[in-house]
Amino acid sequence: MTDRTSAPDTDPNRLDGLKALVTGGASGIGLATARLLAARGADVAVLDLDPSGARAPLHRIKADVSDDTSVREGVGAAVERLGGLDILVNNAGIGASGTVEDNDDAQWHRVLDVNVLGMVRTTRAALPHLRRSAHAAVVNTCSIAATAGLPQRALYSASKGAVLSLTLAMAADHVREGVRVNCVNPGTADTPWVGRLLDAADDPQAERAALNARQPMGRLVSAEEVAAAIAYLASPAAASVTGTALAVDGGMQGLRLRPAAAR
Ligand SMILES: NC(=O)c1ccc[n+]([C@@H]2O[C@H](COP(=O)([O-])OP(=O)(O)OC[C@H]3O[C@@H](n4cnc5c(N)ncnc54)[C@H](O)[C@@H]3O)[C@@H](O)[C@H]2O)c1
Repeated sequence: MTDRTSAPDTDPNRLDGLKALVTGGASGIGLATARLLAARGADVAVLDLDPSGARAPLHRIKADVSDDTSVREGVGAAVERLGGLDILVNNAGIGASGTVEDNDDAQWHRVLDVNVLGMVRTTRAALPHLRRSAHAAVVNTCSIAATAGLPQRALYSASKGAVLSLTLAMAADHVREGVRVNCVNPGTADTPWVGRLLDAADDPQAERAALNARQPMGRLVSAEEVAAAIAYLASPAAASVTGTALAVDGGMQGLRLRPAAAR
């Protein structure tokens, strides 16, 4: 195997010859990621409940991350089509709103099942293939909700807090097998999901303005900006990076600004 990090004329951001699987890759952040990985030279399969949003050269795999048999078959089909696996992006996820009083047990089980166990099932099925790779990387889509208390997001935040801890534990378990594990923590990103949330609001325009204002940069993050962070963590450029959470949140986690008028 070539050492991709030391060849002086090799751009370590390139992914030529690498094979990648992106869950939830038919929409939003996952689709932007799948496209970027492919643009950088990877052969990419998208695993999604409804993969129709992914177009060639992306390979489409229909599977449900909340069903272990479906995941095993989906990962198997992806590995067969790609001829191996180097990069896994665990991105499929669903939202929930409300305080701890608002969601019933069935909703808690459902969201944790998709957002947390979905990553467990997919990684479990992928690991035997990743271990054979000379450049194995897992990137999980976590959230600002893992590290900041957001109102009306008790269940969703709990699921992403678990994703953050799971990322660190997986990074420790697999570092000596040559498998790196990291996550990205997006702030509110302008994806179809957030579009659906805005559509459901009483005053979508006011809701968008409030979400924009919550981020120090004054605007939502784009799916492409999150994809760029995922592609970095998945690439040989990040060969020494494991067990980290990379925030792509317009400064929301780290900055404490005074009101614009006060400066
Ligand atoms: N949009 C945001 O503001 C934001 C912020 C932080 C984190 N995230 C995270 O980013 C990820 C992607 O979000 P998005 O905004 O791009 O959402 P999206 O709804 O645009 O895309 C999610 C994709 O996941 C797929 N999916 C859902 N459940 C699935 C299942 N059980 N099995 C297989 N596929 C399934 C959907 O079909 C869809 O294609 C999620 O994990 C989300 O929690 C989003």
